[in-house]
Amino acid sequence: MRLRTTLNNLHLILLLLPFLSLLPLLHSSSDRNLVEQTCHLTPFYDICLSALRSSPTSATSDLHGLAQIIAGSVLQNANQTLSQIQQLLDRSTADPKTEQSLAYCAELYIPVVKYTLPQAIDALRRGRLGFAVYGISDAVDEIGGCQKLLSLESPVSEGNKLVTSLATVALAIIKLLQKGFF
Ligand SMILES: *[C@@H]1O[C@H](CO)[C@@H](O)[C@H](O)[C@H]1NC(C)=O
Repeated sequence: MRLRTTLNNLHLILLLLPFLSLLPLLHSSSDRNLVEQTCHLTPFYDICLSALRSSPTSATSDLHGLAQIIAGSVLQNANQTLSQIQQLLDRSTADPKTEQSLAYCAELYIPVVKYTLPQAIDALRRGRLGFAVYGISDAVDEIGGCQKLLSLESPVSEGNKLVTSLATVALAIIKLLQKGFF
């Protein structure tokens, strides 16, 4: 009799197992909603979404975590753009005026990649939102200074634009945090 009860319970568990294994999925689907909801509240929905989805931790992150992922993505893309600028300078096939502009852009980008953004990310992690906003806004200004010297056809312009858009997304999410959204 007792064995049969155990077997029945086992049966029940086996029946429920597929549903239990769905629980994490349900969980992550509601978190996907947080990602989408959040991105809808930023000026660049698609860029926000693709940056967040490229991180495996976004599905389980809260708003603060999402802000950190985007801020990391700003740094990563700024770093890539700096590498691109340095490669163009190394090849040095540009005319002197373009080369001068690229050298100036490198000078603007280096402190952004080395100090400004890492410090902003650190501030964000510690919850010092005002300082994070200050750093990311400064990065946007510096990159704007670089773009002013380049033509739109410059291969660096695309990187400048993406970094600026990602930074704008980061600032929008931090603003949500400051307002106590979600
Ligand atoms: C920038 O990229 C280089 C490799 O391209 C890497 O060694 C470096 O750690 C990166 N810097 C930051 C701040 O992410």
